[in-house]
Formats: sequence, C-alpha cells, structure tokens
Amino acid sequence: MNQDFLVIGSGIAGLSFAIHAAEHGSVTVITKGKAIESNTAWAQGGISAILDETLREDGDTYESHVADTLDAGAGLCKEEVVRKIIEEGTETINELVTAGVEFDRDHDDDKQYSLGKEGGHSQRRILHCKDTTGLEIAKALIETAKKHPNITLLEEHFAIDLITTAKLGIATEDRIVGAYVLDEASGKVNIFRSDRVLLATGGCGKVYLYTTNPDSSTGDGLAMAWRAGATVSNMEFVQFHPTCFYNPSATGAKARSFLVSEAVRGEGGILINEKGHEFPKDHDPRGSLAPRDIVARAIDHEIKKTGAACVFLDVTHKPKGFMKERFPHIYNTLLSFGHDCEKKPIPVVPAAHYQCGGVATDVDGRTTIRGLYAVGEVACTGLHGANRLASNSLLEGNVVARRAIQAILKSYPVGKESFTTPPVPAWESGGTTPPDEQVLISHNWDEIRRMMWDYVSIVRTDNRLQRASRRLRNLRKEVREFYWGNSVNSDILELRNLVATGMLIVDCAIRRKESRGIHYTLDYPEKNNAFLHDTELRRF
Ligand code: FAD
Ligand code: SIN
Repeated sequence: MNQDFLVIGSGIAGLSFAIHAAEHGSVTVITKGKAIESNTAWAQGGISAILDETLREDGDTYESHVADTLDAGAGLCKEEVVRKIIEEGTETINELVTAGVEFDRDHDDDKQYSLGKEGGHSQRRILHCKDTTGLEIAKALIETAKKHPNITLLEEHFAIDLITTAKLGIATEDRIVGAYVLDEASGKVNIFRSDRVLLATGGCGKVYLYTTNPDSSTGDGLAMAWRAGATVSNMEFVQFHPTCFYNPSATGAKARSFLVSEAVRGEGGILINEKGHEFPKDHDPRGSLAPRDIVARAIDHEIKKTGAACVFLDVTHKPKGFMKERFPHIYNTLLSFGHDCEKKPIPVVPAAHYQCGGVATDVDGRTTIRGLYAVGEVACTGLHGANRLASNSLLEGNVVARRAIQAILKSYPVGKESFTTPPVPAWESGGTTPPDEQVLISHNWDEIRRMMWDYVSIVRTDNRLQRASRRLRNLRKEVREFYWGNSVNSDILELRNLVATGMLIVDCAIRRKESRGIHYTLDYPEKNNAFLHDTELRRF
C-alpha cells in the first residue's frame, strides 16, 4: 500500500499531524488496538498554554511559562525549543477548539477559560475539560480525522518495524521507505510504503510494573526507531507520577493504574503521612506542589523510612461537593473502587508516568533518518530536559505536529518525489506459537517489568543498574528466540519492544554519573556539570 503520508499512532501527536497532512495528500493512520486507546485519552489535568499574554489579567507571560519549564528541566532543556513551543499555545488551543474540544470556563458566559495549576507551575495556566481533558481531545481529533476524505484510519494495525534504505542494503542514502505492519485481525503482515513517515507511538510506561499508562504504552516506536538506526536520547529520564491510587486488592491493569491528577493538589489537596504530617514540606518549601521529581522522591523516602505501604492525598478539608463537581471522573472512579475521598484521604503511591527522552528530534520533529519524523511522547525535542513540567506534553504533541508538516512539505514536497522506489522484500515469519511458549512470553513480560521497577526506578545505584543490564541482555536472547521461532503476534512484538526499551533506559542511566532532574542515583547524589548534555545512543 502506498500513501503520501504514513502516520503510526492515533494520539494527539499522530492525529494532529494527520489532519494537517490531509490538506496536502493521502494519509494513512495505523494504530494498534482501537484508536481511542492512547495516553492522550487518559490525560486528566489539562494542557498548559498561555493564550495571548497581553490579555492575561494575572500577568502570566510566556517568559514565566518558559522559566518554570526550564526550572523543572534542571539544565537540560533546549531553551529555543521551549520558547518556540510555548509561544504557539494560542494556535494549539484554537486548533483543538475548532476540532470540537470545549474547555471549561468558570461561568458559562465567561470569555476567559478556567485555569488549573499543577506542580512546578508558578501560575494558573492549565486549560482543562474537568478531569477528562485527554478523552475530550482524543474524541474530537478522532472524529475530525474520520470525517476527512484524505485520511484512512486503520485500527488494529500494529507497526512491527520501519523499513529504511539502510536496512535494504542501499548504503548511499539513509531514508525512510515505509513500515511492516501486522493486521491484528487477519494475522497477515503487509508493507505500507511512504517517503514521509510520522512516528507518534507514545511512551513506554508498561516497561515498569506500576504505571499510570494504558496497555498500549510499550515503547514500540522508540524500539523501532532504534532498530532502524535513529539516534535516541535521554532515556534515563523516566518521570514517576507521585499520586497513583494505591489499590492492592485490585485486579486488572486499569484498576491498578488509576491516576489522581496533580490538579487535585493544585486545588488544595495535600500529601500527608499516616500521622497527618505534610511531609513534602520537609523536602521543598513548595510542599505538595513542588515539581514531580521532588515529590515522588519525598514519597519514596517516606515509604522507605516508615515502612508504610503508601502515603495519602487529603482533600477531606475541601467543601462538600467540590471533588464531585471539579473532578467527577476521579471522584466517581474512586467511589467505584469503594473509596469516598470526601470522607477519607486517598491512599497513593508513585508510578511510572512519562518518558522524557525518546527518538532525538529538532523542534520540527525531524529525526536522524531522512523522511522519518517523530512527534509526541516518543520523541525527545529538548522541551522537557531532565524532567517534564506537568501538562506540557499535550501542548508539545500538537505544536510539533503542526511544525512537522511544514518541515516535511519543504524537504519532501508531495508530488515531486525525487527518490527511486527500491523493491522491499516481503515479511519473513517464523512458525506457529506452541501454547507452552505463550506462557513463557507472559513470564518474560512480568520479569522485565518487575526488574525495571526494583532496579531502575526512582532511586538508582550503579550496582542495581549493572544487574538490570545483565538480566535484560539475557532476556533479549530469549526474546529473540521467541521472535524468530514463532509467528508474530502483538504479545511477542510488545515483549521485543519492552526489552529494547528497558535496555535503552538502563544504558542511558549507566552513562549519567550524576543526579539531575528525575535521574537520581545514590552513588552520585549531586549534579555534575560535566554531564550537562544529552545522553545519546545510536545502534549504527
Ligand atoms: P499516545 O497518546 O500515547 O498515542 C500513541 C498511539 O500510538 C496509541 O494510539 C497507540 O496505540 C499507538 N501505537 C503504539 N505503538 C504502536 C504500534 N507498534 N503500531 C501502531 N500503533 C501504535 N499530559 C499533559 O500534557 N496533560 C495531562 O493532563 C496529562 N495527563 C496524563 C494522565 C495520564 C494517566 C497519562 C498516562 C498521561 C498523561 N499526560 C498528560 C501525558 C500525555 O497524555 C501523553 O504524553 C500524550 O498524550 C502523548 O501523546 P502521543 O500522541 O505522543 O501518544
Ligand atoms: C496529571 O493530571 O496529574 C497529569 C498531568 C501530566 O502528566 O502532565
């Protein structure tokens, strides 16, 4: 199948790009599972954006948003990238409103949007749709994409690997040619050809045992780009969200991954220990609303010090009905788990939440492979540095998508293809998967995720990282045997990507011999400016 643009992933990044690209040519969006299954659809807090700063009565400015982003990023943000993204907030909000997103206003007749606050933000600047902002954005973009005659949206299509000229043995140029894609319904692997491919596959939270992410976040795009020879950077910076609902009796990923938005702390929720003490204040004067790395580490410290299973997010002092009105999704979901947050503090623990590193790109999403662009959580533009400021990622996904289409059209104009079309060999598959091997695949999934949680999480040491590296390399050998010995299915493919992602996180973490942002190691507890640079890895 040939298309002018091939988009892999149906979150905010992929769909924002597809909607623009459709004005210039044919677009195929492929996505594994259903289109609505994405991190985007699970986003709660909102999207940070300074709408025309001259209209802000509270004096919020681009400069202030830039300063907060740089502060969270602990020296590794690329300032020019931060500025460019933040200054496009107005276009992003207008674009989402045109797609049908209705952001909350304090009163129905208000001209101004209602603005929330999260950790690390010095001002209220987060637009939201109650506490289901991401779902509203995802639904609006999917609807818009489905209506466009130039967009073909294929659900249950799993991208296995990118096809590049280098992989085809054409050494003179390294450019994208397309992707091998598994049709999950038929089990067939097809070739999707395009000279312009957008990777928008999101993050990799599932590489950890405890995560706020949906099941789709298995680092597929990152692993594919790595295998194709793209540069990957800063994978040591995995952000842990401080407040995932602690629900030990729960079964099923959804019940174990339920996020309680940082916006709840923005509205006055406080983190306390069993004795009722707001312990984050012992670590930072901003207390419960300090940036996430500080709060997550404070919780980790508290849990290890006291031996408690969790800490608590207390909103019992808020007026009755407040949670139900402002955070209905959180309030009702907690009730469905048997917890009334108006009556009792919410038990919470940190969980893996966001991949700050990724496929290295510039602010236009350009990777090191010609024609391959990466946008959203899969990419590392330099906006987040060593720690992402809350609610900056939805903004980044949309802004960089808009910039990427302009950049692609300039470099690879549609209808003026200057490339020859190399023949692409059909996909080679293995045999059939014996049932006893399927059990081993599940076992390896669990082993990787537990090992990453135990050895490579909030507080690290050289020793734990080295052990993780050795075990991952052994697991990789086994996974390769499964992969080449069996027919492909999404479990094997995700396992292969999880092991690659785990190795990239560990390999980057081993190289950073300092503590900075969300990478904290007991062996080097201070910042060291000899490491004031990105950690870059490339396979060949
Ligand atoms: P995603 O939205 O994750 O989309 C990726 C898509 O790619 C999915 O459709 C997936 O199925 C598909 N895909 C993956 N692999 C393959 C493959 N091999 N083949 C085909 N398709 C594939 N950020 C904010 O800014 N504000 C918030 O309030 C906020 N809240 C959050 C709350 C939660 C619980 C979570 C988990 C994240 C939150 N984030 C928030 C982060 C934000 O949601 C994500 O960073 C952002 O939505 C990522 O968008 P994306 O388009 O890059 O990826
Ligand atoms: C949240 O609502 O707490 C998540 C916000 C984010 O990750 O940006």
